[in-house]
Amino acid sequence: MVNPTEMEVSDWSQRWDDRKIGFHLSEANSILVKSFEQVKGSTVFVPLCGKTLDMLWLAQQGCTVIGVEAVGKAIEEFFEENGIGHTVESINGGVKCYKANELKISIFQCDLFASTPELFKTQFDLIWDRGSFVAINLDMRPRYVSLIRGLMAPTGKWLLVTVEYDETRYGGPPHAVSARDMCTHFGNHFAVTKIHSEDAYETRMKTWNLESMSENAFIITAL
Ligand SMILES: C[S@@+](CC[C@H](N)C(=O)[O-])C[C@H]1O[C@@H](n2cnc3c(N)ncnc32)[C@H](O)[C@@H]1O
Repeated sequence: MVNPTEMEVSDWSQRWDDRKIGFHLSEANSILVKSFEQVKGSTVFVPLCGKTLDMLWLAQQGCTVIGVEAVGKAIEEFFEENGIGHTVESINGGVKCYKANELKISIFQCDLFASTPELFKTQFDLIWDRGSFVAINLDMRPRYVSLIRGLMAPTGKWLLVTVEYDETRYGGPPHAVSARDMCTHFGNHFAVTKIHSEDAYETRMKTWNLESMSENAFIITAL
């Protein structure tokens, strides 16, 4: 068994400095685009958002988008690379809020685990979770699930993208999420529907000692 790699916010910051951001996609995520009709809502939360173009795409669909990202460089690149004028406001506790001028996108710069629901001043119809649940350290999963549950509107939907691979070969991140993990973390309080599964192996994963990887997506609702 390969020990799972623990990542702190400082390690993620180093990855942004070293440009080790192979997770970033050059267009909106295809699972989000394909599934949006099934999950759409007016307020969307994007935890651990990086500089994903999904936020732009969601705003273009008319959604109000709120992201959380700990690394300032990622947020600044999002606004700069997309030519989005914005303001930056410092909030109590060292949190910064970057707000687009003409689009309904706000990104809070803070550690997700130090945030409280009051910070966002809303409940969310949709949680768009790609590269988030799979990025956090394994011991944080129970806390993460309860934190996200607390942010969902009663009829809200959580669109979760996971990866599955042989965990004896690689320790993540992204961390693998098995069917058993899904039961452990979502079995008691949620209804879970698997909507997507496909081979997601890329050659860069050879350096992770992997020979296969699949990507799965789930729609999760609170019971
Ligand atoms: C794997 S990337 C995924 C980014 C984005 N969701 C995407 O699909 O491109 C994870 C991101 O979460 C950020 N991050 C990691 N831990 C965090 C935390 N505790 N609070 C807020 N952001 C965090 C990292 O800086 C990184 O940008």
